[in-house]
Amino acid sequence: MLVAGNWKMFKGPAETARFLDELDVPAGVEAIVCPPFPSLADAMGHGVSVFAQNVHWANEGAFTGEVSATMLLELGVEGALVGHSERRQLFGETDGTVRLRCERALEAGLRVIACVGETETEREEGRTEEVLRRQVAAIPRHDALVIAYEPVWAIGTGKTATPELAQAAHELIKAEHSTAVLYGGSVKPENAAELMALPAIDGALVGGASLEPASFAAICRAAIT
Ligand code: PGA
Repeated sequence: MLVAGNWKMFKGPAETARFLDELDVPAGVEAIVCPPFPSLADAMGHGVSVFAQNVHWANEGAFTGEVSATMLLELGVEGALVGHSERRQLFGETDGTVRLRCERALEAGLRVIACVGETETEREEGRTEEVLRRQVAAIPRHDALVIAYEPVWAIGTGKTATPELAQAAHELIKAEHSTAVLYGGSVKPENAAELMALPAIDGALVGGASLEPASFAAICRAAIT
């Protein structure tokens, strides 16, 4: 089981080090934290895997505000999130750029958590399957890549997908792409065990509830119950 904490734009270097000093991860779970870029160095050496929240496809160049896979590897970062819905919705990320970022990161030797998920409108319009198939088709096949299914309407809203709905989406993704699939979207200590007990769910990508060591550790424990 894999439990990844996406910290988004929270926690500077000092808070990152404090969090990880306090965090107690049970055996049998791989815990990953994804701090903001300036906090990556301070996340190293605490016994958890450290991923960036994004990675560019070029090695270097005139790409203001971007960071390359080689720079992350030099720092000791193990992997990166790619295509998070906030990147897709707020920063113009497309299936094309998601593919480029994934390919280059994997080629360079990073692991990748590639994110997919339908919006509320797409679900209401009955387009969930089409959207997931299209997003998954853009994601390369590789041993070092896992997919995270995060329905956009469940992110940060407190609305979690029902177990049936999550299971169905994960089955669809796995039929298109043989990989582990994490569930994300309002995962909390209270709902984590039920979700992660589903056969098609291989772990969790956690936002808000990953910001406190106690709740992140509780979700890690739920992953192995
Ligand atoms: P949430 O975020 O757990 O706060 O809903 C999940 C994510 O955005 O990865």
